[in-house]
Amino acid sequence: MSAPRSDAIVFFGATGDLAYKQIFPALYGLVHDEGLDVPIIGVAKAGWALDQLKERARDSLAHHGLTDEATVARLCDLLRYVDGDYKDKQTFADLRAALGTAQRPLHYLAIPPSLFETVAQGLSEAGCAENARLVIEKPFGHDRASAQALNAMLARTFPEQNIFRIDHYLGKEPVQNIMYTRFANPMFEPIWNRTHVRSIQITMAEQFGVDDRGRFYDETGAIRDVVQNHMLQVLATLIMDPPTGEEHEAVRDRKADLLKAIRPLDPRHVVRGQYAGYTGVAGVRPGSTVETYVALKLYVDTWRWAGVPIYIRAGKELPVTAAEVVVEFHRPPRETFGELVPSSSGHMRFRLSPDMTVALGVRAKLSGERMVGHDVELILTERPASFMPPYQRLLGDAMRGLGELFGREDIVDAQWRVVDPILDNVTPLYFYEKGSWGPSEAEQLIDRDGPWRNPIVSGEPS
Ligand code: BG6
Repeated sequence: MSAPRSDAIVFFGATGDLAYKQIFPALYGLVHDEGLDVPIIGVAKAGWALDQLKERARDSLAHHGLTDEATVARLCDLLRYVDGDYKDKQTFADLRAALGTAQRPLHYLAIPPSLFETVAQGLSEAGCAENARLVIEKPFGHDRASAQALNAMLARTFPEQNIFRIDHYLGKEPVQNIMYTRFANPMFEPIWNRTHVRSIQITMAEQFGVDDRGRFYDETGAIRDVVQNHMLQVLATLIMDPPTGEEHEAVRDRKADLLKAIRPLDPRHVVRGQYAGYTGVAGVRPGSTVETYVALKLYVDTWRWAGVPIYIRAGKELPVTAAEVVVEFHRPPRETFGELVPSSSGHMRFRLSPDMTVALGVRAKLSGERMVGHDVELILTERPASFMPPYQRLLGDAMRGLGELFGREDIVDAQWRVVDPILDNVTPLYFYEKGSWGPSEAEQLIDRDGPWRNPIVSGEPS
């Protein structure tokens, strides 16, 4: 059953960074691929006129190599602009006028979270919230309590099914592919549990630093920036139970079950790191103890996963930019052939970026009289990263009222519940050199479940 499509797009923060980097390219994709044909209204307080917004859109598209002139012209044609302060009722009256006959607008809040409440209220008072959908950027709250307060505030104006909390990892093709591979191939299901899985590792490595986002990042840190959302969503996709029935909430229900079963993090199972030179980045507070790296171990309290250690690692200024998941299987209970087999032998690997790979690591015999072998990977699929950009997929879904690839209230709450005990720099901070794999304390954390699997960007298995 499909809900009616939104008949206008409104994006707050139209002159900002997110619009430039993600929203204009996503809109271009929707116009180009799906013939998007509704008014697109940018709102900002910049003293701009419509021509400047069009100029900005053209600039963004050129910057991203999106140059089909008919599409660019069509998109510019659809653009409208409302300039004004979000605290001023007039801004919302102008927006209502710009919406014309539109009945079901989609409002995208690409603005700082401190403005969410003001804008939600403004929309409601001006009659712009009725039948409307609301897309909200991360970070969704700052901790569990503030996320709950934000949910309660939004619920006063928008019903849950009309709120779309963005986590762009959910719009990524390789993340979708984890789910597809698992549930399109029934032979994986019997081994996807504590009986066969020894441990799990998820690594999100970035070769670059905080760059020009010092101020934002110093209030956020790696745990809030990517673990609470992206990493936990990847984990849920990887180990949730199979969705049941035809219910359109089936997938999110199973994800919610899984996330609610993760044991809140034990501060002793967390290693926080900061790269050398971070405090010199503009916007970062002197002496800041915010982490740019985190490694952690967690457990899921279900029959399926009890006792399986799950390691998550994310950091900036690491040796490569790559994200990868490795599910490690148990070794044979006894060595039949008396050879020295690496403890990491036998795995399934999902490469999420920069390319997409699904591979099964097994042991194969070397030719010859002796019963010795080596580790090989069967590559199930390997593709370059030429996917539909996540924001295009997500914006298109939100316009159709499809919520599966968005955070639901209970899901976001469960994610905060996991990280709440380790927020706000309560665990020790270790320093690491740029270009290294983070502080050596992370080796002690993984200990006998190691070694860490460092993604290799040439495409070779690690
Ligand atoms: C964002 C974080 O959500 O995700 C950034 O704020 C991070 O710090 C980015 O770099 C990574 O996304 P992607 O798609 O490049 O892996």
